[in-house]
Amino acid sequence: MKVLLLCGGEGTRLRPFTHSIPKQLLPVVNKPILYHILEWVARTPLREIVIVTGENQGVFQQTVGDGSRWGLKISYVCQPRPLGLAHAVLTAETALGKAPFLMYLGDNLLEESPEEYLSDFEKKRLDSLLLLRKVPDPENYGIAEIKGDRVLRVVEKPEKPPGNLALSGLYLFSPAIFQSIRNISPSARGELEITDAIQNLLDRKKKVEYRLLTGWWLDTGSPDALLEANRRLLGKVAPASLGRIINSRVDGCLYLDKESLIENSKINGPVYIGAGCRIKDSTIGPWVTVGDGGTVTGSTLKNSILFSGARVENFALHQSIIGRRALLTGGHRPDQADAAPLQPFSRLLLGDDGVVS
Ligand code: DAU
Repeated sequence: MKVLLLCGGEGTRLRPFTHSIPKQLLPVVNKPILYHILEWVARTPLREIVIVTGENQGVFQQTVGDGSRWGLKISYVCQPRPLGLAHAVLTAETALGKAPFLMYLGDNLLEESPEEYLSDFEKKRLDSLLLLRKVPDPENYGIAEIKGDRVLRVVEKPEKPPGNLALSGLYLFSPAIFQSIRNISPSARGELEITDAIQNLLDRKKKVEYRLLTGWWLDTGSPDALLEANRRLLGKVAPASLGRIINSRVDGCLYLDKESLIENSKINGPVYIGAGCRIKDSTIGPWVTVGDGGTVTGSTLKNSILFSGARVENFALHQSIIGRRALLTGGHRPDQADAAPLQPFSRLLLGDDGVVS
């Protein structure tokens, strides 16, 4: 069985970051979302991966390569325009061959391993197994209507949702899905929807079942979801102290990478500080990641992500995402690291190389 990883799309809800990085390569806890996904796949028995990208395939090839560093074998397929998830599947038909496959959305993170679902799917020779989870905002997802253990209907982002069970970013399919995709037409938003193709499987009386996910699942497609992913993954990081800490206080879990220095500061874990960072006269955390080569001086940061090389001076930030090499200078007094900030916390989403002073 192969894995189909969908990494096309435009990532409009994650601008300005997606102007310079595809959304599946945005860093969460200092590494691209796609790395977290590949580590997840590497924990399953599956080894062969087909990645669908847009025309930016080169960036993926550079960042991920042939997958050998995870013990995986990766090949790439280009979907020149993001014409929908079902269109992406059809684009990969030749690469996938005639075997069943696991489809995974490249901007999703899942806690649990799919092994139990894989063996159920194979034993029962299903045409599709859907992984569902209750959501508070069903109008933003594909929604399944169920009765007992049967899937009655699936519908994409309904205005009047028939329930609150969302299709998560993990699907199992037999090759019957290809015919179903050929049977459907583009939706009102002009995309070939995978949800419509699944509905077509149901209409053709193919064997479609569902399971309820028990662990957490995140669609990282918006800034708040990216911050939530940061929190979830920070909660799993083990403490480490590979750098130097001088005249500072650390409470909670801190991962401090090599060649980094924390000086005259207070850390409220969980906090991840990448390699080659300088943290001075600051209060950091909880739920903060500072990417490799970051500098934070005289600042207070909570629940935020700094991409690599970002520099924050004299600023109080919360729920913020600061792009690669971005520079932020404010009026927060550096001698008051422990005190409440002089200015209220600001929320900023600042793209790569952005400057705010
Ligand atoms: O997150 C779960 C939801 O994902 C499901 O509940 C929905 O039924 C499903 O349609 C999907 O909705 P999204 O609006 O979140 O899909 P998005 O456009 O973000 O695309 C998901 C992934 O697939 C993402 O990594 C980009 C990639 N993609 C997307 C399109 C439209 C492609 O590779 N090709 C495409 O044409």
